[in-house]
Amino acid sequence: MIINKSRTKIKPLQDEDIPLFAQWLNKEYIYKWLCPDGEEQKEAWLDEVNNKSGKYDFLKHFIVYHNDKKIGYCLYADCFYLKDLEEEGHDFEDLYGDVTEKNQTYEIGYLIGEEEYLSKGIGKLIIQLLEEEIIGLGGHEIAADPSEENVISIKALLSNGFKKKGDGDYRKRITIKITEQ
Ligand SMILES: CC(C)(COP(=O)(O)OP(=O)(O)OC[C@H]1O[C@@H](n2cnc3c(N)ncnc32)[C@H](O)[C@@H]1OP(=O)(O)O)[C@@H](O)C(=O)NCCC(=O)NCCS
Repeated sequence: MIINKSRTKIKPLQDEDIPLFAQWLNKEYIYKWLCPDGEEQKEAWLDEVNNKSGKYDFLKHFIVYHNDKKIGYCLYADCFYLKDLEEEGHDFEDLYGDVTEKNQTYEIGYLIGEEEYLSKGIGKLIIQLLEEEIIGLGGHEIAADPSEENVISIKALLSNGFKKKGDGDYRKRITIKITEQ
């Protein structure tokens, strides 16, 4: 299978995608990183994606497509709002206490739900696609909080120019080059 960037797209997650997302979360190689605290954490993810109350409007969820096939999920969230989110096993205030303004730093998250698409460079592409979205919003920094044991995710971040700020805290400053036409 040949993967190229133009065949890989992200589109906003729709309600009809939630069962597929739940199925992906249940896969062992995903669950161990996204739900290390167990079922309550899985329920929290589903609650956030469902966003029935509108409380999680600042979380922007996407489905990753390759040639129109749904193969993964990703999100970004403005850390200004994220730092007030209380979640099992996560201290966002500790991580993003330095974020004092809206539209400054965005956290990203991602997964590939279909195993045959793993280790083909798509993880790195997803990070680039999220970066393009965040540039479009005028954000200045991207953040990710992988577990230090999640070597593949950390490699994908480092390959995309992220730098380690601390354990489980990786950041990338957005620098936009303006070229003369
Ligand atoms: C993290 C994830 C999205 C990475 O996507 P991917 O498409 O499999 O990874 P890529 O092919 O883009 O490779 C990323 C880096 O990891 C390396 N890598 C990929 N598969 C690997 C493997 N099985 N073993 C070791 N390194 C591997 C690649 O060489 C690349 O590093 P490099 O740029 O230094 O060469 C994917 O593994 C996944 O969905 N994992 C489960 C969910 C998860 O952990 N999400 C992140 C939470 S923070």
